[in-house]
Amino acid sequence: MTPVELHNGDFAWWQRGVIYQIYPRSFQDSNGDGIGDLAGITQRLDYLRWLGVDAIWLSPVNPSPMADFGYDVSDYVGIDPIFGTLDDFDNLLAETHRRGMKLIMDFVPNHTSDQHPWFLESRASADNPKRDWYVWRDARPSGAAPNNWLSEFGGPAWTRDEITGQYYYHAYLPQQPDLNWRNPAVREAMHQALHFWLARGVDGFRLDTVHHLFEDPGLTDNPPNPDFRPGMSPTLTFARKHQVDLPEVQEVLAGFRRVTDAYDARLLVGEAYLPLEKVMAYYGTPHAPGVQLPFNFHLIGATWKASAIGDLITQYDGLLPPGCWPNWVLGNHDRTRIASRVGADSAALATMLLLTLRGTPTLYYADELGLADVPISPEQVRDPWELRVPGFGSGRDPVRTPMPWDGSPHAGFTTATPWLPLNGDFAVRNVESQRADAASLLRLTRDLIALRQRTPALCVGGYGIIESRGDVLTYERLWGEQRLAIALNFSGTTVYTPLPHTRVVLSTVGPRTAELPGSLLCLRPFEGAIIEPTQQLHGGFSA
Ligand code: NOJ
Repeated sequence: MTPVELHNGDFAWWQRGVIYQIYPRSFQDSNGDGIGDLAGITQRLDYLRWLGVDAIWLSPVNPSPMADFGYDVSDYVGIDPIFGTLDDFDNLLAETHRRGMKLIMDFVPNHTSDQHPWFLESRASADNPKRDWYVWRDARPSGAAPNNWLSEFGGPAWTRDEITGQYYYHAYLPQQPDLNWRNPAVREAMHQALHFWLARGVDGFRLDTVHHLFEDPGLTDNPPNPDFRPGMSPTLTFARKHQVDLPEVQEVLAGFRRVTDAYDARLLVGEAYLPLEKVMAYYGTPHAPGVQLPFNFHLIGATWKASAIGDLITQYDGLLPPGCWPNWVLGNHDRTRIASRVGADSAALATMLLLTLRGTPTLYYADELGLADVPISPEQVRDPWELRVPGFGSGRDPVRTPMPWDGSPHAGFTTATPWLPLNGDFAVRNVESQRADAASLLRLTRDLIALRQRTPALCVGGYGIIESRGDVLTYERLWGEQRLAIALNFSGTTVYTPLPHTRVVLSTVGPRTAELPGSLLCLRPFEGAIIEPTQQLHGGFSA
């Protein structure tokens, strides 16, 4: 491979880096209450350094009644005692930085907890100075909710409040009232919260559910969802047309960006589950930049076939506005784990895909072990979504289970009973045993991250061809003279694909013994390989 060096100033840390998402309740418990905490994460930083990730994103750790496990914030400038103290946070931040890594916090701007002092004031009376900080509306003449909008988590998006008889709006739980972002005082208060953490040295924020920040002020009823089918969750009965993605969102993001740009090298990542064309608006414009990385979740729902993934890569890359940086996500705390979606056999292939695509990858904790969704019995359910809308597969507990560190009781996660059950196979599927096994997914993930970091073509390079041929997806990554091709076999059978190459740099199936000289690359079932092609690949290969 042609050696090429990148200079430090050439790209921002978040363009070169790999982000690792931690669900704090489930990473490491340090005080024996069965729930993960900040001091626990600090204890495990050396593991993350060893794995090679560049930045850690923490799901929320602010004070919260935990109706939605931290996504219901009751104080934006504190730390919930379950997770520790502000000192524990400062220590985690310092230790993360000492190891050359960055720390990204979750920030939840759309709604607060119903226990937040702002909401307690707001609901106290119709003329309270904070009344307009939230979205209050009168009932319809019949006494019914103001319109037909539904909550993401089941039931109407409106709850009637006894004190005044008005309804307040909540895109999620009734315990998560939406803030009124049309009120400048709300913007100012939220900017102050960002400053609080930025001044402490936090490297960026993942902004929760930003497409929900505004609703149609005319309260137009939503139309029926044309994709709704019997058997689907009732939360999907109506299209959320008038509840999401209003153009005013972009002004708020530009405002956040002005706040973070006043500091050195900070990052904003935005969560908006929208079609790709709409996601692009979240980058903002050159005059009013939005978030640097609007999450690209489209691998999560993609059909797991070479052609569909190839089309998605081409489509996404083609839609990116000039100068905007791509990113990819395989899983998170809200969606079925990748190993369950594609099957254990394909988990390594998926990891190679994520870590060789153009753009910043975000890796969800324990996906590097191939952890699957953990079955949760009805008595074990904790997720409010599943409790409110049971039986439609909405529950997120299966993807939030504790990190299995070793084969000891409770997998080294805690000395108590963990808040959610461990994976049944933790005695073998854990960090310690996979670290010792050169053929494990963990070691492959580490090797892929290391290769990516030292290979500019993979880390920041562009694409050459992107092509699917039967079950094999091939794409090239280029940087100057450096050229690599990635070939992924999505099928369970051995395939020979025409791909002239000199060397296989890394394979998901371990060492390659019988290399075929010449132009054919042999890929074993579900094998992915990074290769040095002998020549520039062109649209159609000739066998
Ligand atoms: C998106 C978060 O990822 C999810 O976990 C949460 O429940 C909702 N937003 C509400 O904050």
